[in-house]
Amino acid sequence: MHIYKATDYQEMSRKAANIISAQIIIKPDCVLGLATGSTPLGIYQQLIDWYKKGDLDFSNVKTVNLDEYKGLPAENVQSYHYFMKKNLFDQVNINSETTYLPDGTASDSETECTRFNNLIEEIGGIDLQLLGLGHNGHIGFNEPGESFEKGTHCVALAQSTIEANSRLFDEGEIVPSHAYTMGIKTIMLAKKILLVVSGEEKADILHKALTGPVTPTLPASILQLHPDLTVVADEAALSKFDIE
Ligand code: GLP
Repeated sequence: MHIYKATDYQEMSRKAANIISAQIIIKPDCVLGLATGSTPLGIYQQLIDWYKKGDLDFSNVKTVNLDEYKGLPAENVQSYHYFMKKNLFDQVNINSETTYLPDGTASDSETECTRFNNLIEEIGGIDLQLLGLGHNGHIGFNEPGESFEKGTHCVALAQSTIEANSRLFDEGEIVPSHAYTMGIKTIMLAKKILLVVSGEEKADILHKALTGPVTPTLPASILQLHPDLTVVADEAALSKFDIE
């Protein structure tokens, strides 16, 4: 495991974007596993800036996203489809035919999960998976208690996650209670993992995840066992670690 300590959110974003751009340069047709949430926003902005400068080419890149709310169509402003289009895809030269997310409107959840699992396999597996960290230690939408063996599946979101995510919804809008997510198994099969964490409120959970016991009650703890994990976090998030 490599841990990079950044002074602040901006430096964290730049460092993580650097790692992603290196992946694209080394393998222009790579498969990137992407994440939503507020943490990756600075990374996406940095990648867009480098693209606009002519330093990055997304034309052969394929992407798969970690998760999507069940019940939300791609056009819904709260959907992760919409988030990805707005914050990255529409601003770079990526082919929209090769950006994949679970379909929130699929009529049969099981069929949708199988489709998504097969798709990841068909495009060659994930070269680099970007991950944020939930306040309760979730990754993607793998909530505490989920088995480590699962591929893409449909989950009932923890009340704390619904509450944390409700800040992004307007008053009166219903925050979905279920979501599709890559499972821990899907995530662990990625060749490289890049975990990004910012802010003091995640310091404790990050420390437990990376130094405590590996247990399904703290989903991110499994990342300790990944052979190629890079953590990029700011000083505040790393405040419980004794590193320079
Ligand atoms: C959501 C997403 C996760 C993300 C988490 C943390 O629950 N499904 O993939 O990592 O939020 O989000 P943030 O970066 O906004 O703290």
